[in-house]
Amino acid sequence: MILTGPFKQLLTMDKLPEKGHLSDEQMEIIPDGGIVHHNGKIVAVGNFEQLKVLFSDANIELLEGDFVGLPGMIDVHTHICWAGSRATDYDMRLAGKSYLEIAESGGGIWSTVQKTREASIAELAELTTQRAQKLLEQGVTTIEVKSGYGLSIEQELKILEAIKLADSNSIADLIPTCLAAHILPKDFKGNENEYLQHIIEKLLPEIKKRKLSNRIDIFIEKSAFSVTAARKYLMKAKEMGFDITIHGDQFSVSVGAVALANEVQALSIDHLEAANKAEIAFLAMRNVIPVVLPGASIGLGEPFAPAHQLLDAETSLVIASDWNPGSAPMGNLLVEAALLGVYEKLTSAEVLAALTCRAANALKKQDRGILKQGYIADFIAFKTNDFREIIYRQGELRPGKVWKTGKQAL
Ligand code: NIG
Ligand code: FE
Repeated sequence: MILTGPFKQLLTMDKLPEKGHLSDEQMEIIPDGGIVHHNGKIVAVGNFEQLKVLFSDANIELLEGDFVGLPGMIDVHTHICWAGSRATDYDMRLAGKSYLEIAESGGGIWSTVQKTREASIAELAELTTQRAQKLLEQGVTTIEVKSGYGLSIEQELKILEAIKLADSNSIADLIPTCLAAHILPKDFKGNENEYLQHIIEKLLPEIKKRKLSNRIDIFIEKSAFSVTAARKYLMKAKEMGFDITIHGDQFSVSVGAVALANEVQALSIDHLEAANKAEIAFLAMRNVIPVVLPGASIGLGEPFAPAHQLLDAETSLVIASDWNPGSAPMGNLLVEAALLGVYEKLTSAEVLAALTCRAANALKKQDRGILKQGYIADFIAFKTNDFREIIYRQGELRPGKVWKTGKQAL
């Protein structure tokens, strides 16, 4: 048994409403707090001195100086398993070309597919592990990772195997998602329906068999898949027992991705930069979690998703990095979330909940994201005496210390 502390302020993120706006006053902040943990699970949180008495046999892991503690952050949307670079795309964007124009002229997702196909499992696992380590250094202890740069049965399996290997080599937990429906691969002889049928028949059963992922994602967009094709695909995936998440409303709103997310009871719909009032209102009544990706707006030089309005509409806003070589090359979740916060007028509580307790639900991981008895002992500590410094410093203040399942990793 270990007692870690004292934390000048311990933000448990417990007892917060699942949906809607949050004020900083709603956060449970324990002054001079401590965390008792055993075998990677939290046994108790509370006042450090009181815990010392109550758990007198615990080994004390003493923190010297002022620290603010909170749950490890959860990045629910990344594409960190890729090879190559898209600096050329970025340069074209700086010269005024749009994401879609760049894709049409030989850059875009397809160019990363070609590079990723050339890489071995070991190389991809190594690149993914390095990126996961960077996120861990920012305080991210759980990371969702999508495939989607393979786009053939064999290559998607290779990527999912690489993610599995990277998970076993990483301190953070990596949660794999199959995004074989990223775009229609240029070398597939057939239309979108034929491709998705091929994935259903040949890839999804193999993923089940090898236990490589229980999550399916699809990119619904003019340049990717239509709602009609996606509906058939997702219904089938759902029938096979997969959880669903959707890339929707990134560039165009008229495609009905939000309604489909509801229809297939997706866990989340991610992006939503182009979502309009009607779509936000629609989401408001449902349980689909909106995941906004400020890194993609910053990477593309485009407006942020309407995060404030999504909270006005009583949804459970989550913020993720979308770290990928094309639209979101920065890979710094806290910087991105802080910038979204200042432009969208989100409170510290709203931003921090979107990265912890609310994020956990988007991955159906109800064992983390809160500092509470029985939860996984994933927690981080920022060297400051005031939690407001975290968002105020716009990501420049990094957690000096990170614990994963009770072990200090940094
Ligand atoms: O979430 N929108 C589709 N997929 C990624 C971009 C992937 C890429 O450009 O390589 C995204 O932004
Ligand atoms: Fe994405």
